[in-house]
This record gives sequence, structure tokens and C-alpha cells, in this order.
Amino acid sequence: MNKEFWQSKIVLVTGGSGFVGRWLVRSLLSAGCQVHVLDLAPPSAATVEYSYHQVTLLDLTATEKVLEHLQPDVLIHLAGQAGVSACHARPVEAFESNVVSTFNVLEASRRYGNLKSLVAVSSNHIYGDQKTLPSSEDAPLNGAGIYAASKLCGDVMARAYGKTYHLPVSIARITNSFGGDDPHAAHIVTATILAALNGEPPVIKQSGRDLKGYLYVKDTVNGLLMLAEQTAALPELHGEAFNLVPDEPISVLSLVRKINSLAGRNLEPRISQPSADFEDEHLDNSQAKRLLGWTPEYSLDEGLNETIDWYRSITSALV
Ligand SMILES: NC(=O)c1ccc[n+]([C@@H]2O[C@H](COP(=O)([O-])OP(=O)(O)OC[C@H]3O[C@@H](n4cnc5c(N)ncnc54)[C@H](O)[C@@H]3O)[C@@H](O)[C@H]2O)c1
Repeated sequence: MNKEFWQSKIVLVTGGSGFVGRWLVRSLLSAGCQVHVLDLAPPSAATVEYSYHQVTLLDLTATEKVLEHLQPDVLIHLAGQAGVSACHARPVEAFESNVVSTFNVLEASRRYGNLKSLVAVSSNHIYGDQKTLPSSEDAPLNGAGIYAASKLCGDVMARAYGKTYHLPVSIARITNSFGGDDPHAAHIVTATILAALNGEPPVIKQSGRDLKGYLYVKDTVNGLLMLAEQTAALPELHGEAFNLVPDEPISVLSLVRKINSLAGRNLEPRISQPSADFEDEHLDNSQAKRLLGWTPEYSLDEGLNETIDWYRSITSALV
């Protein structure tokens, strides 16, 4: 992160009350930005350090007014329905949260016309089943679930706005991020740590054989910041996508065993569906390394240890 770039910038974060947003806001504040959060949900803890705007992105006029009023230099668009099961259960909400909201952010930004940089956050899920791995950014986008399809629409619209209107927008395809202060207790890393700290066996909802990428949220945030910096500097990045993912994936079962061992436990996981279908996911992060100069700074063990310490500190504070 180039602190000089961020000094005194006005930054609007949509979805800043959510998991990734909370960590992004912390980094932006430490870099000396004026931070504004636009979210339906209030921030996790009362703070006077940034201003919060309770607005729905489903309202294009209201979104446009926020931009006109705040005059941001940078916008990072995280807001959406991030839950795969929630999208499957409520497709209308998935469409509104991930497609309409993203369209409104792009269109409001085009009309506002003063952004130096906009990052639209997409997902690893858009790649779906692939014939060859690892998947680079130009791999076919085969994601077939409702969440994947809704994120794919946002991803493609951001590309269209970058290429058609020269909006300074780029796309961050992020993967399973983990860390402390996660409001989603069902996320596998968070759930496994909480179970380990309570002395309970972890539960794996599928077979555990899937290979997935897990990235410490501080590395995810650093990638978003570096992408925003380079998007402001390099017009050739407008409309381009970047995989912000770890170097190597790990199977869910190995991840769960690793967390248990780092937490000092020896609890065998309960596997709910040992014969469930599984899909391997391995994304290529070389474009982000080459063009953004980004690389994950934390090994998986380092990120997990910091995360375990975070939850240990809050559970001991609750005792
Ligand atoms: N967390 C991950 O591991 C992960 C992985 C891949 C992609 N992503 C993507 O990253 C983004 C952030 O993920 P997260 O885990 O922080 O999600 P989150 O659910 O914790 O936060 C999303 C926030 O968006 C807000 N929001 C939803 N609809 C809105 C609307 N119409 N108007 C205003 N605010 C609205 C919610 O209130 C919530 O605070 C999402 O776009 C998600 O699809 C996340």
C-alpha cells in the first residue's frame, strides 16, 4: 500500500459494515483517508472516525446524491449478498444485491464523473468448473450457481463501464477471506476456530475434499488498495479483472485439521456428507503480482494464528 496515494483522499466504501469492509476501513483510516461507509447495516462498533450513510444501493438517485454530496476520489464497492446459500434460497435478493446494486454504483459513478479510481469486488465463484487449473483471468467464466451468476453480471458490467465509458474501474476477484471480526459465524475458518476454542469437534458440511483458496483478510484488503492505486494511475487497467487469491489452495479437510492443530486441539472433524460432489478451485494470481506488485504477505499459518488470537482474545474477554 502506498500511503502517499491515500493521504487525505476521500474514500467511499459500500458494504463497509460487512466483514471485508471492516478491515478495509481500518486500513484506510490508518493511511490518513477521509472514510465514508455506505451500507444498509450500521457499523460494527460506534466510532467517530468515519461517517456512515444508511442508503440502499437499489436506489440509483440516492446513490448518485451520496456521490455528489461527498465528492469521493476513490470508491470501493463491496456491498452485496455474499452468502452462497442465501443467494440460492432468495434469488430475487441475490439479483438485487449483486446485480442492481453494482449497476447503480457504476451508473452513479459515471454520472458523477470525478472518481480517480473505482474497484468493484467480484468473486472466485464466477470461474465455476474448469477443464484446466489454475484459472487465470481470461479463463471461461463457468460459474453456474445463483451467487456465481449474480457476481458474474456485476463483474461483466464493471468491465463494460471501464471499456465503454472509460470509467476508471477495475475488478477484484477475491476468494474465501478469513480473519477476526467476522460477522458470519458459519464461515468455515471462523466456525472451526470457535468450535476449537469451545473444545467442540468442527463440522464440515460437505465432503471436505474440495480444494479452495483461503486468504487472510489483511492480504485481501491490501490487494484491493493496491488495485485502486494502480487503477488511478494506469488507464489500461480500466475494465480489467484481477485474481486476488493465495498462491496455493488447500482441501477443506486439511484446513480444518490445520486450524485445530494451531489452536492446540486434537479434535476429529464431523463430515456431514462424505460422498458429496466436490469442485476443485485453483486461481492464478500471477497477473496481480506482475501488474500490481501485490503478493500475499501472510502465510496461511500466520493468518490463521492471528485469527485464532483474535477470537481467543474476545472469548477470554467474555468469560
Ligand atoms: N468474504 C469473502 O470471503 C468473499 C469471497 C469472495 C467475494 N466476496 C465479495 O466481497 C464482498 C464483501 O464480502 P463480505 O464478506 O464483506 O460481505 P458481508 O455480507 O459481510 O458485507 C456485505 C455488506 O453489504 C451490505 N449491503 C447489501 N446490500 C446492500 C444494499 N442494497 N445497499 C447498501 N448496502 C448493502 C450489507 O448490509 C453488508 O454489510 C461481496 O461483494 C462478496 O460477494 C467475499
